[in-house]
Amino acid sequence: MDDFERDYPDHRHAPYFEHGDEGQTNTSNNRTFYEVMDGHMRRRGFLAGGIAAMAAGLFGNALSVRGAFAATSAPSALLGFDAVPVSFDDTVVVPPGYKVQILGAWGEPIVGAMPAFDPANTGADQAMQIGQHHDGLHFFAIDGSSTDGLIVVNHEYIEPRLLHVAKWKGMELGADDVVYAEDGSREDDDVLKEMNAHGVSVYRAKRGADGAWAIAADPMNRRITALTEIELAGPVRGTDYLKTRFSPDGTRTRGTLNNCAYGVTPWNTYMAAEENWAGYFANTDAEMSAGQKRYGISDDPKGGRYGWHLAKGAADEVIRFDISAKGASAAEDYRNEANGFGWMVEIDPMDPASVPVKRTSLGRFAHEGVVFAPAVEGRPVVCYSGDDSRFEYIYKFVSDAPYAAGSKGDILDSGTLYVARFEEDGTGKWLALKPGENGLTPENGFADLAAILVDTRLAADKAGATKMDRPEWGTVDPTSGEVYFTLTNNTKREQSQVDAMNPRAENNFGHIIRWKYADGDHSATGFDWNLFVLAGTPQHSETADGAALGEDNIFACPDGLWCDPDSRLWIQTDMGDIGPEHKGPLKEFGMNGMLAADPATGEIRRFLTGPWGQECTGVITTPDQTSMFVNFQHPGAHATPEQFAAGDMGSTFPDGDKAQPPRSATIVITRENGGKIGA
Ligand code: FEO
Ligand code: CA
Ligand code: CA
Repeated sequence: MDDFERDYPDHRHAPYFEHGDEGQTNTSNNRTFYEVMDGHMRRRGFLAGGIAAMAAGLFGNALSVRGAFAATSAPSALLGFDAVPVSFDDTVVVPPGYKVQILGAWGEPIVGAMPAFDPANTGADQAMQIGQHHDGLHFFAIDGSSTDGLIVVNHEYIEPRLLHVAKWKGMELGADDVVYAEDGSREDDDVLKEMNAHGVSVYRAKRGADGAWAIAADPMNRRITALTEIELAGPVRGTDYLKTRFSPDGTRTRGTLNNCAYGVTPWNTYMAAEENWAGYFANTDAEMSAGQKRYGISDDPKGGRYGWHLAKGAADEVIRFDISAKGASAAEDYRNEANGFGWMVEIDPMDPASVPVKRTSLGRFAHEGVVFAPAVEGRPVVCYSGDDSRFEYIYKFVSDAPYAAGSKGDILDSGTLYVARFEEDGTGKWLALKPGENGLTPENGFADLAAILVDTRLAADKAGATKMDRPEWGTVDPTSGEVYFTLTNNTKREQSQVDAMNPRAENNFGHIIRWKYADGDHSATGFDWNLFVLAGTPQHSETADGAALGEDNIFACPDGLWCDPDSRLWIQTDMGDIGPEHKGPLKEFGMNGMLAADPATGEIRRFLTGPWGQECTGVITTPDQTSMFVNFQHPGAHATPEQFAAGDMGSTFPDGDKAQPPRSATIVITRENGGKIGA
């Protein structure tokens, strides 16, 4: 099968490259399971006998665990809708009896002077509008209402050619391309618009008597962008790592970047993840730190993405993205600026005047998102977060203080960060990333807790964590307490690196894992794990009840994941920029979309397919589950530079007008009978 980095050395232009993702940077010698398997396991010949033998080996291996997880073959009573077919159309398809409306697209006004969307909007306009490239989203009900609440939505990154289409129309540009002036600089307002299209949008949405949802102008509406002032809290606050010209005492930074998925705290605030932040920076120093290399900071003078530091006006808020050492000390330049990114950012949507806070105790890496275990009074707060890059790790944080009514975000400022080691016998262990434990000593380069948290990946390498196939979203099943995580794909895993946890070489299709604790205690350090599904074609898949995926449910590259209050497991797919002409191993899956699964039976059914080029990411319902909010990100991103130059922007979603750029958007799904979604 294709491997896009092999077939497309400039892999950012490969046909199903996921724009917004960074390349692999884990060069540690941590062993995979395969390397520690005993002779018995090796003789089993994972994959050697074909995929069927592999699957049998996989589930046979985990049988003891599998028996302990709930699984029946009775048809699911949870899934009450008819499967939608695989789609190759530039449209949104939902089951019979369901309907769809567009709610919040990129560029819709929410604050200030409320400038209407126009492709020619300025950078200042963009600061008053919904950002681009929607990802995680949540509905914060107002007074428990299911017809009135705050939508909070992350904006992961941008597609410059669409953001600036009024200026760049007719140019041969790919989805990631940026236009520089002849002298290598960037236009100030272009950069401002890009920074304001990042971050998080908060807006009030209400359902009218006609059943339709609409954005409401409201004092709680808010934009947080790449420029918003943000506090840093926890063990790294005030340390040398965070000292910059902007914040000589190391307590503040500006902006949040590449906000992918999210979490909701037990005290009902929103946490936005900072995922692929490394590419925003450039470092042309002769020598980069081990940590900077490990995160993939670019030594290209333009940086890895948009070259913001090259904006003509050289304002302080842009030059900070060049982290080369320039001044006499850290307080005189921006050598530490990148240390202010890669965190989980807490936002209180109910208080528009609140300053967002980066909680450094949760570690610094390519946070996909965060998922909190149900809080129990008197027990620690526990949350999980995946590091989405090839061969990266899954983490867990356990607070020192017990949760109590009235607990707030500062409970997260003291606790233990762990990283997962999965054993091939179906057990696992959380390894503490703590000074003096698991090799994290000054002699090994970890002077203190702040050093461990800033260079979390290096600490996890040292501790001996298990390299996974790109951990994306996680969720906790409210019925069983089991934790589910998507492992979206990893085309770079080689045969010799195959293990029980990541059982396929050149993993194009991805899988979903789950784990649980003996007595349901999420703060425990030992757990049992199993695989829930191996995604793929009928020939390359297996569900928890031993069936293959088929017509009603083949899918690949699971990414977004959410278990609703009834335990319906919603699975969203991100196969990259899939368009109708797509070729390669993912072509038979059609457009990206969403499925629902029953964790107890293993049954999976396709619920939704989306338009051309997009990935489906972000899903939540109102408390009564009668309205569901879903995002489509980067519609049209598959359009080639030649197509773009010819005026074909790849998709007409959501406006249905070829003259308008395709726009990421939040849609709302309801039922004609007013019932619960999915039931
Ligand atoms: Fe932002 Fe890993 O998806
Ligand atoms: Ca994702
Ligand atoms: Ca993804």
